[in-house]
Amino acid sequence: MTGVTKPEACTMVIFGAAGDLTKRLLVPALYNLAQTGLIPEEFALVGVDIGDFTAEQWTGSLSDMLKSFTHDAGSEDEISAVDVKSWGHLTQQVSYVRGDFTQASCFAELERTLKKIESGRKGPANRLFYLAVADRFFAPIVAGLGTAGLVRNDADTWRRVIIEKPFGHDLESAKALNSAVLRHIAEDQVYRIDHFLGKENVQNIMALRFANGLFEPLWNRDHIDHVQITVAETVGVEGRGKFYEQTGALRDMVPNHVFQLVGMIAMEPPVGFSADAVRNKKCDVFSAMRPVRAEDAVRAQYSGGSINGHAYPAYRDEPNVSKDSNVETYVALRLAIDNWRWAGVPFFVRTGKRMACRMTEIAIVFKRAPLTTFQDTPIAKLPPSTLVLRIQPDEGVAHEFQVKRPGPTVDVSPVTMDFRYSDWFPPAPNVGYETLLFDCMMGDQTLFQRADMVEAAWRAVEPLLNDWSSDKTEIIKYEAGSEGPSAADVLIGSGNSSRNWRPIALNGGPRCP
Ligand code: BG6
Repeated sequence: MTGVTKPEACTMVIFGAAGDLTKRLLVPALYNLAQTGLIPEEFALVGVDIGDFTAEQWTGSLSDMLKSFTHDAGSEDEISAVDVKSWGHLTQQVSYVRGDFTQASCFAELERTLKKIESGRKGPANRLFYLAVADRFFAPIVAGLGTAGLVRNDADTWRRVIIEKPFGHDLESAKALNSAVLRHIAEDQVYRIDHFLGKENVQNIMALRFANGLFEPLWNRDHIDHVQITVAETVGVEGRGKFYEQTGALRDMVPNHVFQLVGMIAMEPPVGFSADAVRNKKCDVFSAMRPVRAEDAVRAQYSGGSINGHAYPAYRDEPNVSKDSNVETYVALRLAIDNWRWAGVPFFVRTGKRMACRMTEIAIVFKRAPLTTFQDTPIAKLPPSTLVLRIQPDEGVAHEFQVKRPGPTVDVSPVTMDFRYSDWFPPAPNVGYETLLFDCMMGDQTLFQRADMVEAAWRAVEPLLNDWSSDKTEIIKYEAGSEGPSAADVLIGSGNSSRNWRPIALNGGPRCP
C-alpha cells in the first residue's frame, strides 16, 4: 500500500489467545494487514491463556484456522492461499504465556516474556494489549497489568489496551468498569472497540456527509422526514444461549453497534479530524438522545420457521435457553434526538436475529414534495425520496427517487441510482478489524469509544431496561425467516401512517442470496 506510514515496532499481547475471536477475526485481520505491508517491521505476538500450549502449538493452531479460511488461487472467490511471506512476517517472533488472568503470577511471567522480546529489539518497546476475553476479566486484567507496571508509558514508548464489548451491561456497571480501568491507565491508552466502526461503509458516512457539498444542506429537520436503521441477521444465537439469556438483543446490539450508526448520521460536522474533535460530536448525539421508554419500543422473540428453505427451531428450543424465556431476540425503537438539527425527526432502529435476510442499512427518508402536478398520482402514493447506505452485504449508496415514465402520459415512477463499492474498487480481504488494529498501533482513537460516550449511550437506554425488567408479560413472537413482529409496523406508523419499514427480503437481489 502506498502513501501509508507503517506503525513503529510493537508487541501485541492477546489475552484470550485460544479463543474464537482471536482465531476467527484478530489473527486473520493481522494477516491481512501484513499482506498490505501495514504491520510494523519489528513485530512480536504474545498469546496469553489458561490452556497448556507451546508457542509452536499456538502458532500452528492459528495457521490451521487461517488456512481453513483461505482457498487456493484461482478458486471462485479469488482469495489466495496463505501467503508464506506475510505469515512469516506476522509470526517472526511468537511467544505463549500460560496463566490465569486473575493471578499475579500470570503478569510476572508476561513481564519476563516482554522484557526478553524488548531486549533484543532495535525499535521502541511499544505494547498493545488486546482483551479478547469474557467481560468479567476486563477489570482484573487491567489491574494485573497496572500492578505489574506493564502499562506505564514513557517518553519514547506507548502502552495501549483494546477492550472488547460488552462494556458494561447497564449504566452503573459501565461506570464501574470505566473507573476500574482508569485507575490503572489514562483515557488516551484505552481503546474501547466497536467492530461496526471497522466496516468500510460506516467509515464512509463521514466522507459522504462532509466531503460533498450536496448532502449536508439537506441533512436536517427541514428536509428529512425520518431515518430508518436496520440490522437484520439470519443467524440465531449460534450456541451462545447462555450469554444471550443474560443479554438480549437490546444490550447486545443497540447502545453499541446501532448507536454508532446513529452517531455517524446525526453528528454535527467536527471542527477538525482529531479523535476528540470527532468523538465530541458523537458524544453530543448520545447526550441529546431522549431517554427511551417502553412506549417507544417493541421487543419480540423468534419462534420456529425457515430461511431459504432451511427449518430453524424457536429461540426457546435453542441449547442453554429457558423454555419460558422472555429474552428479546428482536428490538425496534423510536429514538428522538433533542437538538436543533433533529427536533421532530424520529430515528427508527430495529435489529433482530433469524430474520428473512442478512442486511444492514441506513435509510434517510426525505420529506415528500409539498404538492404534485402529476394529476393521476396522489403525493401520498409516491414513495419518498430516500438515500440508502448499505452497510452489508453489497456495500454501497443508493438514491431512490421519482422520474417521469417514458411515454405520452405524465406518470411518475420510482428508480434507483446505485453506487456499489465493488464496481469501483478492487476487493480487499477484510474481516472488519484491520482498520481498528492499525489505528490503535498508530495511536488514532477516532474510531474507539471514550468513557463518556459509553456512559451516555447506556444512560439513553437505562429507562427502557428498567421498564422491561419490571414487565413480566409474555413476550410477542415473530416467525424465524420473517420481517419481524407486526407491532414494529405499528410503532413506525403511529403518528404518521405513511411511514413504513423498508422491506428486508422483498427487494431480493444480493440481500437474499
Ligand atoms: C456482535 C453481537 O457484537 O455483533 C452478535 O454480539 C452479532 O450477536 C454481531 O451477531 C453482528 O456483527 P456482524 O459484523 O456480523 O454484523
